Amino acid sequence: MKHFQTSIPRARRKSKAELQAAVERLAPFHHAIDLPYGLSTYVPTASRQNRERTRMQTLLDHAWPSILDACGGSLAGKRVLDVACNCGGFSVHAARAGADYVLGIDIEPHYIEQANLVKEAVDLDNLDFQRLDLMDLDRSEHGMFDLVLFFGILYHLENPVLSLKRISAVASNVLAVDTTLMKVPIINRILDRWPMWHMRRVAAVDSNASNITTSRWRPEEFCQFSPNSRAVTSLLEYSGFADIERLKPKVSGLEKRYYNGRLATFIAVKEQRAAGNANPRLVGDP
Ligand SMILES: C[S@@+](CC[C@H](N)C(=O)[O-])C[C@H]1O[C@@H](n2cnc3c(N)ncnc32)[C@H](O)[C@@H]1O
Repeated sequence: MKHFQTSIPRARRKSKAELQAAVERLAPFHHAIDLPYGLSTYVPTASRQNRERTRMQTLLDHAWPSILDACGGSLAGKRVLDVACNCGGFSVHAARAGADYVLGIDIEPHYIEQANLVKEAVDLDNLDFQRLDLMDLDRSEHGMFDLVLFFGILYHLENPVLSLKRISAVASNVLAVDTTLMKVPIINRILDRWPMWHMRRVAAVDSNASNITTSRWRPEEFCQFSPNSRAVTSLLEYSGFADIERLKPKVSGLEKRYYNGRLATFIAVKEQRAAGNANPRLVGDP
């Protein structure tokens, strides 16, 4: 299988002090990733919000077993695309889980610089990061992916429908979507049978923003659309996915928004799952 390697040349392994200094220079990171020498990308003194410490683990606890299940139990032999990878925590997790190849893409150069530092430190050959707008994903250039991670990005897009078409064009089987849902409780809970999108104009951010680990890519006002649950499933169907499941939060200790319905994870599959491997479909609010 072709690997579309564009990675930086292998550098001399950094000493502990050099790695620590490099991490501190690029902090804060949005994902807490374990690095050699017992170091982590989580730097408490640079952190601006608790989510930087909890984001990765909470989503892994909530969704990773179901994602693996949808992939047939293992990532061995699979090509994984991590869209909007940020500093690369989920890409690293997929690469460590044995994927054949993982490509993480993000539009923001600073996050890709963080991800490439992580790649250099963890020294995984099956992992690559590239600065890329998801709208520029191209099957002939980037190949097809057995698993696409689409975490924390759907509700940020100015063109969600077109974006999902681009993603579908490079997705051969499983798509995992983690997204904020519309913050209008009555719509989330009572009117969920109708697909709806809530338009929001979000203000420009500067380097002082508390959420700088996720918002650095939009220095100007941006127009975003938060879906309700039905809009997500409807869009996934429209984009070519057949078997769509919204995960119920089954474990304790997740981010509160998974329990109150403001944040949800969907797994969509293009090929029908084998009968013995099928999960019960869980559609609707938790
Ligand atoms: C809320 S963060 C999500 C990060 C990570 N996927 C997660 O769930 O923790 C949103 C990310 O989307 C990236 N992004 C925004 N628009 C993008 C686009 N058009 N193409 C690729 N990445 C994009 C941002 O740079 C940012 O890293």
